[in-house]
Amino acid sequence: MFVVKKIVVKALNALVRPFGAKIVKLGSGPVFIAGPGPSDCYMANEELSKMLLDELSDVSRAFFLQRLPGLAPTGFDFRAEVEKFMSICRDGQQQNNVGGSGFHNSFWIFLTARALDPELIVESGVFKGHTSKLFERACPNATIHGFDINLGKLEDKTGRAQFHEYDWSCFDFGKVNPNKALVFFDCHVNHARRLLEAQARGFKHLIFDDNPPLHKLYAYGRPGFPTANMLHNGLSADLSEVRWRWHDKQIDYTLNRAEAEAAAKVIAQHEVYPDVAGPTRYGALSYSFLAYVRI
Ligand SMILES: C[S@@+](CC[C@H](N)C(=O)[O-])C[C@H]1O[C@@H](n2cnc3c(N)ncnc32)[C@H](O)[C@@H]1O
Repeated sequence: MFVVKKIVVKALNALVRPFGAKIVKLGSGPVFIAGPGPSDCYMANEELSKMLLDELSDVSRAFFLQRLPGLAPTGFDFRAEVEKFMSICRDGQQQNNVGGSGFHNSFWIFLTARALDPELIVESGVFKGHTSKLFERACPNATIHGFDINLGKLEDKTGRAQFHEYDWSCFDFGKVNPNKALVFFDCHVNHARRLLEAQARGFKHLIFDDNPPLHKLYAYGRPGFPTANMLHNGLSADLSEVRWRWHDKQIDYTLNRAEAEAAAKVIAQHEVYPDVAGPTRYGALSYSFLAYVRI
């Protein structure tokens, strides 16, 4: 079976390669296709390559200054930070991160971490360790804790990040400086629960991945229901039963309204990061409604 799959993937890749795409996994669910990546597809002409850096700097500067004023320190050099990020991408580490963060998430996670410069970074949902490594590179002085209920896929445990094979709620962080701490939730666990847990532990700056609005839940087979986006924007709808189709599955969720309302009250600010995956075509499928949430 494995050999047959390999032959099928090879044949399909011959077909999609001219379009800059690559099939990296063929499972019982959806076929995963990786488009061009920043380490293997880029303008070799320096002037043209700089145009992309300029464009991405403009997008990030506008977002931070308009939507997250005060998060980046005065004088934060967006152009230099974007260049740093792109050079990390170019070194080609962990290119196949299907199931984890792609270009879009990595871009915003890197810039947010650089802007905030936290002393403490917490990640819930480590998988292969792609974003843990990114945090290590973005914040060389931060203490990093990565939590995953299954660390079996983790590729490199030798960095600075400390990994724990259990839910983050079981860990005692002691006294947290809310202005100097960042939590990234990428574990598909109920965002209402995560918001209340983060508040109880004294955190303020959060990033939620896989955070679709109510009417785009169809993009997921297993979101952290209710999502932070739903809590912030969608609680006025009748949510007693939410149903959608995910490929060949019918999905039903029932909202715990008391928990949802308590969690919605905790959100002081909710900002979805603008799409940089589609416009660059670096992992167009990696756009995931990633959002910064201040509580
Ligand atoms: C999307 S992956 C994380 C990807 C990673 N952050 C990245 O961007 O490369 C989701 C991970 O969440 C983990 N997970 C599931 N439930 C969890 C929980 N309660 N606490 C922490 N991690 C959990 C899964 O085992 C899986 O490895």
